[in-house]
Amino acid sequence: MDQRVVGAEPALFDPFELPDTIQLGGIDDPYPDLAAARRRGPVLAEWPFPNDVVAVDDAVTPPENVSFNVVGHDEAMTVLRDHETYSSRILGEIMGPMLDHTMIAMDAPDHLAHRALVAPSFRPKLLARWEHDLVRRVVDELIDSFAPLGRADLVRRLTFAFPVRVIARILGLPDRDSEQFQRWSLELISTVVNWDRGVAAAAALQGYFAEQVAERRVQPRDDLITELVETDVEGSGLTDEEIFAFLRLLLPAGIETTYRSLGNLLYALLTHPDQLDEVTRHPELRGAAIEEALRWETPVVMIPRQCVRDARLGGVDIPAGRVLNVFLGSANRDEAQYEEPDRFDIHRTPAPHLSFGSGPHMCLGMHLARMETRVALDATLERLHDLRLDRDAPRPRVVGTAFRSPDALPVRFMAATSHTD
Ligand code: HEM
Repeated sequence: MDQRVVGAEPALFDPFELPDTIQLGGIDDPYPDLAAARRRGPVLAEWPFPNDVVAVDDAVTPPENVSFNVVGHDEAMTVLRDHETYSSRILGEIMGPMLDHTMIAMDAPDHLAHRALVAPSFRPKLLARWEHDLVRRVVDELIDSFAPLGRADLVRRLTFAFPVRVIARILGLPDRDSEQFQRWSLELISTVVNWDRGVAAAAALQGYFAEQVAERRVQPRDDLITELVETDVEGSGLTDEEIFAFLRLLLPAGIETTYRSLGNLLYALLTHPDQLDEVTRHPELRGAAIEEALRWETPVVMIPRQCVRDARLGGVDIPAGRVLNVFLGSANRDEAQYEEPDRFDIHRTPAPHLSFGSGPHMCLGMHLARMETRVALDATLERLHDLRLDRDAPRPRVVGTAFRSPDALPVRFMAATSHTD
C-alpha cells in the first residue's frame, strides 16, 4: 500500500492540516432565504439564495438544464418517494469517482438488488455488536486525548475524527492504516474542492480495499468486509467491484454526514445552555435532542434528482431531463409542517424530519448514525462536566450551503476523574 502510511497514533493526526479539505464555505444562515423562497412557492425555477457568491448551482447543474429547486416539505417527500419520475443517477454524474457505480446513484431495479445485499449488516438489532467495544471506545480514546486540558475545540478533537475511526474499525482495517485511511477518505469527500486529488484518492482506496477483500477471502474475520464478502441473498452475492463501490460509498455517506450532524447537535446544545442542562440531567431526553438537532440544522441541506418524464410538482410543470435540487434543510423548516420551525426545542411534539431522506434511498446508515451520535453525546456529557462555550474564543458559526456544520466548537469543561463519573 501507499508509502505515506505511518504508525497509527490516534491522537496526533490533525485532519485540518490538509489544505482545501473541509467544505465549509458558503452561507452562514440560509434559513431566511429559504423561508422567503417557500413564501414564493414550494417549487421554484430560481436559485433560493440571491446573494450566494458560491455558485453551488453551477456545480450541480449541467448548463443546458436550468434546475428546479424544491423547498416545500410535501413536495420534497414526493420527489424522494417517486423514484420512477425522479432519478438518482444524476448523483453519479455530479460526484464522479466518489459515487459512480454506487447504490445511492442507481435506480430500480439495480438499486433494490444492491440494497438488499448490504442492508442486513445495518439492521438495528445487529448494531449492538459495535456499540460498547467499538464506538464507545473510539469516543473515549478521543476524549482521553484532550480531557486533562479543560478546554478544546470539539470539532478538531472529537467530531471530525470520530466517524472515520468508527468506520475504519467496523470495516476491520488495521489500526496502523487508520491515518492513511482517514487522509484518503477526506480527500475523497473533498472532490468538489480538489477534483484531481479526489480521483487519486478514489484509485488509492480501490487498491487498498482490493488488498483487504483478498485477505478476507483467504481468512475471514469478524468485521464488515468479511460480512460483505460472505453475503449471500437467495444464492447471489456481491462481486469484488460491487464491494469496492459500497466501501467507497460508506466514506462520504457515513463519515461526512455523521461528523456534521454531531457537530450540529453539540452546537445546538451549547448555544441553548438550558436545554444542554436538561439533557445532561435527563438522559432520556437525549434521543429527542438528537432528532431535533437533525431537523433544526440539517447536515445534508440538499440532494439532487433528475426528472426522467414530464411531471407536475407543487403546481409547476417540470419537463423531462431537468435537474431538481431537493432542499431537505428547507423541508425541515416548513412552517406548514412544524410550529415555529426556526426554534430549537427538544420538547417539540415529534414530527418526522427529512434529514435521512425518504423513499427507496432513505439512509441505510441511519440506525448506525443515531447510535454513534448517542454514544458520543453520552460520553461527552458523562466525561466533560460543566460543559460550556469558551467565551475567550470567537463564537462558533454553522456554515455551508449544501452541507452544514460548525466551523469550530471551542469549549471549557471540568474533566470527570474516571470514565464512569
Ligand atoms: C447523521 C448522519 C447521516 C445523515 C444526515 C445521512 C443522510 C443521508 C441521506 C439524506 C441519504 C439519502 C440520499 C438520497 O436519497 O439521494 C442517505 C443515504 C445513504 N446513507 Fe446516510 N446519512 C447519515 C449517516 C450514514 C451512515 C453512518 C452510513 C453508513 C455507515 C450511511 C450510509 C448511507 C447509504 C449507504 C445511503 C444510500 C442508500 C441508498 O441509496 O439506498 N449514512 N444518507
